[in-house]
Amino acid sequence: MDPSFWHRRWERNEIGFHQDQINTHLQRYWPTLGLSGSEQVFVPLCGKSRDMVWLRSLGHRVLGVELSPVAVKQFFEENELPAKVTRERSFNRWESDGLVVLCGDFFALNHHDLKDSRAVYDRASLIALPPQTRSRYVNHLVTLLRPDTPGLLVTMEYLQTQMDGPPFSVPQQEVLALLEDSFKVDCLHSEDILSENPRFTAKGLTQLVEKIYRFRYQPRSRNPSQPPPR
Ligand SMILES: C[S@@+](CC[C@H](N)C(=O)[O-])C[C@H]1O[C@@H](n2cnc3c(N)ncnc32)[C@H](O)[C@@H]1O
Repeated sequence: MDPSFWHRRWERNEIGFHQDQINTHLQRYWPTLGLSGSEQVFVPLCGKSRDMVWLRSLGHRVLGVELSPVAVKQFFEENELPAKVTRERSFNRWESDGLVVLCGDFFALNHHDLKDSRAVYDRASLIALPPQTRSRYVNHLVTLLRPDTPGLLVTMEYLQTQMDGPPFSVPQQEVLALLEDSFKVDCLHSEDILSENPRFTAKGLTQLVEKIYRFRYQPRSRNPSQPPPR
């Protein structure tokens, strides 16, 4: 999507994707990543997600990236977090007690920005992107993160012919194709949530399946037909 699409959505407060409550799947499945609680968690395309506050309450340091200054300002104000704002390359860096949000373009992040991140939480981020951008998004993440970085991913599946995204339908097959080269991927939960989301029924959907994936380090197994490394 063009950045102006998202800027407009935030300026007009058209943010049906935002959840006032902490995501229940995050609360249920985050412990399965087996983290100590001291790791920095990277939250791409974070909006003003309160899930970041929950992750911080576990002890994690949190690093979000978000295009919209409206979203970032609201995040710190609504959670009553007094923020220090500094300029860092093309980003405005907002920081308050272990919570950092870089306001700018995800694709402008570099290795230095994510050097301390040891886990990822993606809710409604991959599915916010059109098909041609999704592989670019995953490649950028994989390039910047250490290979042993685990994470949770929350997606939706529906008949793409029934509605234009975002949110886009990202079928399990595509999730696996995007991630399986780099991670072991498990689908932990799958549920039709259409009845709880009348705004999507009004748009013509007949099914809306939310899926929760966990991705973890997949040590590369050596091809037995190849000679061992010297
Ligand atoms: C569907 S919302 C999801 C927000 C958040 N993950 C949540 O659960 O509420 C997608 C967000 O990604 C942001 N976004 C879109 N493209 C971006 C980019 N290239 N870099 C940073 N943020 C981006 C949008 O402004 C929007 O807030």
